[in-house]
Amino acid sequence: MILKSLILRNFRSYAAENFSFHERINLIYGDNAQGKTNLLEAIHLLLMQKPFKQVRFGELVSFGSTECRIKGEVESEAGLDEVHVHLRGEKKTITLNGKIVYRTSRIVGRYNVVSFLPSDIELVKGSPQGRRRYLDALICSLEPAHLRDLKLYHRSLLQRNAVLAKASGLTPGMLEVWDEKLAETGSLVVSRRLRYIEKILPHLRRIYRLTSGDDADVGIHYRSSAALTDDLAEGFRKELAARFEKDRRRGHTTFGPHRDLVGFTIRGNDASLFASQGESKNLALALKSSEIDLVRDLLGKTPVLLLDDVTSELDERRKGFLFSLLDEFSGQIFITSTTLGEIRLRGEMRVFHIRAGRAEQRHVRQ
Ligand SMILES: Nc1ncnc2c1ncn2[C@@H]1O[C@H](COP(=O)(O)OP(=O)(O)OP(=O)(O)O)[C@@H](O)[C@H]1O
Ligand SMILES: [Mg+2]
Repeated sequence: MILKSLILRNFRSYAAENFSFHERINLIYGDNAQGKTNLLEAIHLLLMQKPFKQVRFGELVSFGSTECRIKGEVESEAGLDEVHVHLRGEKKTITLNGKIVYRTSRIVGRYNVVSFLPSDIELVKGSPQGRRRYLDALICSLEPAHLRDLKLYHRSLLQRNAVLAKASGLTPGMLEVWDEKLAETGSLVVSRRLRYIEKILPHLRRIYRLTSGDDADVGIHYRSSAALTDDLAEGFRKELAARFEKDRRRGHTTFGPHRDLVGFTIRGNDASLFASQGESKNLALALKSSEIDLVRDLLGKTPVLLLDDVTSELDERRKGFLFSLLDEFSGQIFITSTTLGEIRLRGEMRVFHIRAGRAEQRHVRQ
């Protein structure tokens, strides 16, 4: 897939700007605080229907404006699409080829994006919730049914919690219907997480070895309070029943995929506690590179790559690896940098010089 063009109106630092992109490499350069990351954020929002970090939609609208528009032409297996995202306050409206998309699930998974952000290191060093959220978002992009199951799970969880919070004289029977729903959807969520960890792991191990130059074994661990046996749903039912007293006292559900922990290990040690800065960057880079392979293997598609300020995070060795990976990659790339010479990519590219929310486009052959 290729993002051919983009129109921004009142999106963050862009009052009005139009872009026509190269089908391979788009280099976005400029000084700090000029709008490079904002441009990648707009592309992510357009293609993935959500920003790449957790922000309120209102923050994306230019200061002093009440609404913003992002419009793009996307060429994919599905044909040439015109996609339009309109934000007004916290309300988001997506239009695909002139028709409003009322259910986001209709468009989720239509396009694939892999983004490399300076904050990726948080996936290794940050909270287990961040890793769980990342894993779920990755699965949703590869298998949209996951989004439906997560929503169903959370709806049942809210309802079970509401009963726990209110009811006096509560008996296990009063929770039965919600226990069943949680066991059903929760086991689907967990089994998919486990399945995708298995799929990621060989890629992660191979790429980590290749880029770190050492043989350190990396792992991904998943911790749940339910027994992770073949019959997950049954394990869930048992665990929910066993925790009835505790949940009743606490007034909420103390067990389930919303509390499970995901972590990485290097040489068997918990990476969030023991990995060095360099190892963490390496692991995050390997994880993101694995995503490209997963999209290719599982969907037979080539994702669009968004790389924000990646070189400043990496030493020469890792930069070398990243650029050789990008040289081999056949899809479309958007890469930002504060220095033009820093991006050592071969082939034809279009260069965008960003200054105060305006872009000057130049064609460059290297
Ligand atoms: N809602 C908004 N309305 C107007 N301007 C905004 C809005 N949100 C952010 N900005 C401005 O956008 C600028 C930052 O843009 P961006 O993060 O894209 O910079 P950058 O070019 O990536 O810089 P760096 O090289 O430091 O990463 C800031 O000056 C910020 O004030
Ligand atoms: Mg930036």
